[in-house]
Amino acid sequence: MPDTIRCAVIGYGPMHNFGWAHCAWIDHTPELELVGVCDIDSERTEAAKADWPGIETWSSTEDLLARDDIHLVSIVTPHFTHCRIAVEALQAGKHVVVEKAMCLNVAEATAMIEAAGAAGRTLAVHHNRRHDGNFRRIKQLVDDGEIGEVFQIDLQAGGYGDPEHGWYTQKARGGGAFYFWGPHAVDWVLALVGEKMTGVTGFFHKLVWDHLDIEDQVRALIRFESGCVADVMFSHINAAPRPLWRILGTEGAIIDAGAGATKGYEHVVSTPPQGSVKLIRVSDRGRKREEIEVANLGNDWDSYWQDLADHLLRGAPVPVSGHDGRRTIAVFETAEKSSRTGRTEPVPYEDG
Ligand SMILES: NC(=O)c1ccc[n+]([C@@H]2O[C@H](COP(=O)([O-])OP(=O)(O)OC[C@H]3O[C@@H](n4cnc5c(N)ncnc54)[C@H](O)[C@@H]3O)[C@@H](O)[C@H]2O)c1
Repeated sequence: MPDTIRCAVIGYGPMHNFGWAHCAWIDHTPELELVGVCDIDSERTEAAKADWPGIETWSSTEDLLARDDIHLVSIVTPHFTHCRIAVEALQAGKHVVVEKAMCLNVAEATAMIEAAGAAGRTLAVHHNRRHDGNFRRIKQLVDDGEIGEVFQIDLQAGGYGDPEHGWYTQKARGGGAFYFWGPHAVDWVLALVGEKMTGVTGFFHKLVWDHLDIEDQVRALIRFESGCVADVMFSHINAAPRPLWRILGTEGAIIDAGAGATKGYEHVVSTPPQGSVKLIRVSDRGRKREEIEVANLGNDWDSYWQDLADHLLRGAPVPVSGHDGRRTIAVFETAEKSSRTGRTEPVPYEDG
């Protein structure tokens, strides 16, 4: 590896400004160099040139992947394209960062992992929201034992409203209702619990938004080895939302209403702390109880990219591996299967 990793971003979309965000993180990281942007839409490559004067642009991944002087590509395109582009990039000898959702199903995830192995290149999944300030605080409180042993996690988002959102809300292109926000949520839960999953029970509802072919509400109950259970739900028909997070432990609880959660990435690579979580501590067998507002940490999304440089240049661990990314996809796939069979289903690859 040279001293600097030369990078290209594939996908410079307008919906969330997220190709811009990848360019900004690469540009911000000293040992990564932003060489250019690839998008099939010429308006988007023009936008990229205006935002990043001097970069190169490509209108097809084929032209980009033929370039020997590009070491890494980050894929920021719609979900249904991730597997194909990642496998082609790995076969062309590039390291790959792929946006969440990693892909549409476990078979695609496995093909990506195998392509990385065969090429001897890195596959990293951009679960950047492990770096969100509220999640960083929650994980610190749990890891420090502030609420004792965690036995139940409730995480839910959404509300009541038409979810129409371009390709995201087309099942074949987006993956379904779990694949928009679900990758963040399931990745958080898996990072927090750090145990093998023993099964997933899924509940999918399709009742109201008939003009779309994605689910109106999806829910996965994830069982872990220790008996801990996580209940993760996304809804577009929930007229009575609960807090974003409620975590129960043997000595207390954490509640996060979600007010400090990130609202977007416009023109920032990281942000100072915003908002707080409520820490409830009980002692003396429940006779003593205290409630404390604990300020969130900052959103240090740029650390993901420094970790990536450390991995590629100095052999540090990959920030989020393909195997980690596949676990999240496996939860969605298993929840969907369970919603059809009515049984708790085992999760593929959890035993190695
Ligand atoms: N991590 C996060 O917080 C976060 C936030 C927003 C979006 N995302 C993810 O980013 C990805 C892109 O989402 P978006 O909202 O930017 O979508 P978008 O539709 O706004 O942008 C996608 C872009 O990809 C381009 N594209 C499509 N196929 C292509 C191909 N074969 N080659 C080159 N370019 C191609 C399109 O022309 C478009 O400009 C998704 O995986 C999404 O989930 C992640």
